[in-house]
Formats: sequence, C-alpha cells, structure tokens
Amino acid sequence: MKTRNGILAAVLGLATVTVGLSVLAQPAAGPQSGFVFRNTVTGEQLDTSQGKEGGRDTQAVKTFFETGKNIYIDDKSCLRNGESLFSTSCSGCHGHLAEGKLGPGLNDNYWTYPSNTEDTGLFATIFGGANGMMGPHNENLTPDDMLQVITWVRHLYTGPVKDAVWLNDEQKKNYTPYKQGEVIPKDAKGQCKPLED
Ligand code: HEC
Repeated sequence: MKTRNGILAAVLGLATVTVGLSVLAQPAAGPQSGFVFRNTVTGEQLDTSQGKEGGRDTQAVKTFFETGKNIYIDDKSCLRNGESLFSTSCSGCHGHLAEGKLGPGLNDNYWTYPSNTEDTGLFATIFGGANGMMGPHNENLTPDDMLQVITWVRHLYTGPVKDAVWLNDEQKKNYTPYKQGEVIPKDAKGQCKPLED
C-alpha cells in the first residue's frame, strides 16, 4: 500500500509539473482579443498592450480588436481628430494629402503591402511599422488614435470606390473623398472627443 501511494504521488507530482510547464509554454501575449495583428513585414504577432498608455477601453477599440471593424470610418468627429494626428505623425513623410513624398502614397489603390487594404492591416503597419523609415508608431499613438488616423487616411483615398474594401456597400454609396479646402468643423459631433492640446 505504501509503495502504491508512493507511485501515485510520484505520478501526480509529474502531472503537476507537466501542467505547470505547458502553462509556461504559452507566449505572454498580453490580453488576447478576437483579432490577431501581425507585423506587416515579418508576420510576427503584435502585442497591442504594448506602447503608449490609454486609448484601449473605447467602444471603437474593443469592437476593432474583436471584429476588425473600424466604427469610426464615417464619423466626422473622428475625421477631425484623425486629420490633426495625421498631420503631426504621418504627413511629413507621406504628404499632406497622403499623395506620397519620402514614403509612398496612401491615397490610391496601389499598396506595397496589400494587407493595408484592410483597416486591420493598416493598423498593424501603424502599430508595428514596416521597412526603413516606416517605424512603429505605438509609442506616440494609442490604438484609439490609430483608428482615427486610419479614418482620415481612408478619407484621403482618391482611387476607384470599388477597390475601397474597407467600406461596406452602404458606405461606398455615400463615399465622398476629401476635397482640398474642405474643413471639418471643430465642433463636429460624434464618437470622438476633441483631442487635448
Ligand atoms: C519618417 C517617415 C515616415 C513617417 C513619419 C511615417 N511613414 Fe509610413 N512609410 C514611410 C516609408 C519610407 C514607407 C515605405 C516602407 C516600406 O515599403 O516598407 C512607409 C510605408 C507606409 C505604409 C505602407 C504603404 C503600402 O503601400 O503598403 C503605410 C500604410 C504607412 N506608411 C502609413 C503611415 C502612417 C499612417 C503614418 C503616421 C502614423 C506613417 N506612415 C508615418 C515613411 C514614414
């Protein structure tokens, strides 16, 4: 009896160690959501809990992390913020109208990385960067900021509407690209609060 218990204890002990090890073997990827974001160039999984604090508990980010859908896409209050974030963080390299400068144009239907035709792919490029000068922007923009930037980049799109796969059929019907001189009212109402200066 003694020996049998001894064996049992040894087996249980081994089982505990094995379970313990398999828990450790899980990558510590932070709070994992429905959608897995991957680096645009390397395909490595991105940890969206990393980087600038905040901007993760909005309904838009929750929805986006769960479904990949950007609910800001046609919201004027988010366009207003996105325009300002784009001009500080992106336009120096991509041009004021995203027409391309040091970095490629983002306003036509040609993409070096076709993953950028999806908002999830564009998010991954902003969050994790691409090659060379296109560094990661997760230290200066929160995920919520990124959704607003994406909203603005999509508004600058001048290519054929049929290729705007980030829009649903209803949104495609109503799509009017940015026109030079267009001003988004500062007090535009919607889901995005004005940015703090
Ligand atoms: C310091 C210059 C610089 C800044 C700032 C910058 N980019 Fe880039 N970006 C580049 C360069 C250069 C490339 C080309 C890299 C490559 O091909 O891998 C690029 C590539 C990209 C691509 C891939 C385009 C394609 O055709 O697939 C996207 C999308 C993009 N940038 C978006 C942004 C956004 C949005 C911002 C602002 C948050 C930004 N970039 C800020 C220089 C910059």
